[in-house]
Amino acid sequence: MTDKSGSEDTTIKEALKWASEQLQESCERSHFEAELLLAYHLQKERIYLMMHADAYVKDIEGFKALIKRRVAYEPYEYIVGEASFYDIYLKVAPGVLIPRPETELLIDEVANIIERENITSIAEIGVGSGAISIVLARKFPNLKVVATDICDAPLRIAGENIKAFGLNAQITLCKSNLLDEVNESVELVVSNPPYIAEDFVLEKNVAAYEPKEALFGGREGDELLRQIILDVKARGVKWLACEMGYDQKNPIQAFVNEVGVKSIAFYKDLAGLDRGFVIQFS
Ligand SMILES: C[S@@+](CC[C@H](N)C(=O)[O-])C[C@H]1O[C@@H](n2cnc3c(N)ncnc32)[C@H](O)[C@@H]1O
Repeated sequence: MTDKSGSEDTTIKEALKWASEQLQESCERSHFEAELLLAYHLQKERIYLMMHADAYVKDIEGFKALIKRRVAYEPYEYIVGEASFYDIYLKVAPGVLIPRPETELLIDEVANIIERENITSIAEIGVGSGAISIVLARKFPNLKVVATDICDAPLRIAGENIKAFGLNAQITLCKSNLLDEVNESVELVVSNPPYIAEDFVLEKNVAAYEPKEALFGGREGDELLRQIILDVKARGVKWLACEMGYDQKNPIQAFVNEVGVKSIAFYKDLAGLDRGFVIQFS
């Protein structure tokens, strides 16, 4: 597209070539993302682009506007309004963390405990898009979940996702700092809290677009994790499973040694990095 801006005679092939050139700096897989965004723009599958390479692109200006957003590092998921997670797609929007693949491991850790211990009531701290609570509620139809968040945007979007999956009877949302407003007793608490240190330099697409409240856990990063450990212990809940940063195993181990727990098991992600823990309190 040698700047045929606004013209309606740009073919799919030309549009893709132009878009992948534009995306070279902001995206690792520029051609692939160009295809995804054009498929989204045309409301077609990607395969359609290959089979209709010489067809003209409708509303080329609309497509260019999408590409400009991605060139400015806006995450793909915010542009299309959804994210793939575990076995589902979830609505996401600015103000709500885009669920990450590593959080699927936390779900598997929790699912093992729920199954083994016949757990029927859990709480989630920091619901975000609803990713963790929704996947667990779908896996365990008898499970009741109370999920908190301190911010309004996640509670609104999680509410929409919960409704879209027909899970209103299983998941209750609650605006709360940690579990402060939760009165129900639960058997397990799960959380992927903000755990990044205040001065950590994030990638542009994350720093400029994703909510700070979802990312930064304090000066050291693990302050909220420590508070969660104390609160969950004080409530007499037996199990706590949390995601954490790759460099937080030693400080968390030292902290639980002070606090006193029955056991702590750390788990790693697929790259072999420490990624979270499961605590049994009693
Ligand atoms: C890292 S995001 C996780 C979102 C989602 N659970 C996921 O895994 O994709 C952390 C979430 O915790 C919320 N949060 C931060 N501080 C909180 C607090 N003190 N109490 C409750 N929620 C909090 C943020 O608003 C954000 O939605």
